[in-house]
Amino acid sequence: MRIKIIKASPKKMKTKPKDESKLGFGKIFTDHFFNMKYKDGKGWYDAVIEPYRPLKLDPTAMCLHYAQEIFEGLKAYRGPNDEIYLFRPTENIKRMNSSAERLCMAQIDEEIFMEALKKMVILEKDWIPRGSGTSLYIRPTLIATEAALGVHPSNEYLFFIVVGPVGAYYPQGFMPTKIYVSEEYVRAAKGGTGFIKAAGNYAASLYASRIATGMGYTQVLWLDAKENKYVEEVGTSNIFFLISDELITPPLTGTILPGVTRNSVVKLANYLGVKVAERLLTIDEVISSLEKGTLKESFASGTAAIVSPVGQIYFRKKEYLINGGKTGPLTEKLYNEILQIQYGLKEDPFGWRVKILEGKKTKKK
Ligand code: COI
Repeated sequence: MRIKIIKASPKKMKTKPKDESKLGFGKIFTDHFFNMKYKDGKGWYDAVIEPYRPLKLDPTAMCLHYAQEIFEGLKAYRGPNDEIYLFRPTENIKRMNSSAERLCMAQIDEEIFMEALKKMVILEKDWIPRGSGTSLYIRPTLIATEAALGVHPSNEYLFFIVVGPVGAYYPQGFMPTKIYVSEEYVRAAKGGTGFIKAAGNYAASLYASRIATGMGYTQVLWLDAKENKYVEEVGTSNIFFLISDELITPPLTGTILPGVTRNSVVKLANYLGVKVAERLLTIDEVISSLEKGTLKESFASGTAAIVSPVGQIYFRKKEYLINGGKTGPLTEKLYNEILQIQYGLKEDPFGWRVKILEGKKTKKK
């Protein structure tokens, strides 16, 4: 299938942000978006990149009623010579299709998905910011569009991709966050949808997040739904703890999102000679390690958050500082190493970077 491109008229193009330090996250979108439709019996059709516009949906479109809606998040980076990279895009494509399978939605052909990503980013390349920590965030989304109120898998879907320049996910930038351990609310239970990027997972997280932010915390640290004792995720990201000399992150047992950044951190830390364990970790072990002084660092990982230090934990009415509330050296190293790989500033021993546009040729000295 060919992707048709209809360009926005220059008069209607938006003004690009001038101050990259004020980009924030997910507030600015470019001039175009990709979309493609699906119908049972017909398959995918009408792949187009066209001027950005509101969607037209029937009020009974099933995504609006029964949350058949999934999404992905990845980024495009501008290299030092203006070349453009994606970071492990195949992982997002595969995860989107595993999310689609779990919610009985139409899966997307991997080749057309990749082509849509590349064409969108290349068309909007002038929107990709230059500053460190900035990038073009890419949000592929799949929604059920059949107009029907009976509860069943939709027979029609819309897949679309919007992109927009972003800076740091948290307003405070690369600064330690404060996290609140929720014992009352849970994010996901075994057998549920915690391992996929279902929009409904995020809706279900808002109530506890509002309690946490109302108390001055940045994010919720989620515990498992069954025993309420194993650490699972933090906010919209995966979580890591450095206890003694072991970097620990909870294993992918079905309730945790298999983060692309999580996987990259595990591989990178191993490569750097850090001992990494993907194992169950109780909140009691976290707290007792804090009390003993063996818990040295903690950070969250995610596409949006990259590697985001955790400086404080609130649990059962007590506050615990991690590394004196400051970013630890391993957290900082992993953050820098990942960014440098993403921006093409250093060797990529893992083959994660995908160059989608050549840059200016550099002069040979
Ligand atoms: C991402 O890191 O891309 C995410 O999906 C987090 C998002 C919900 C802001």
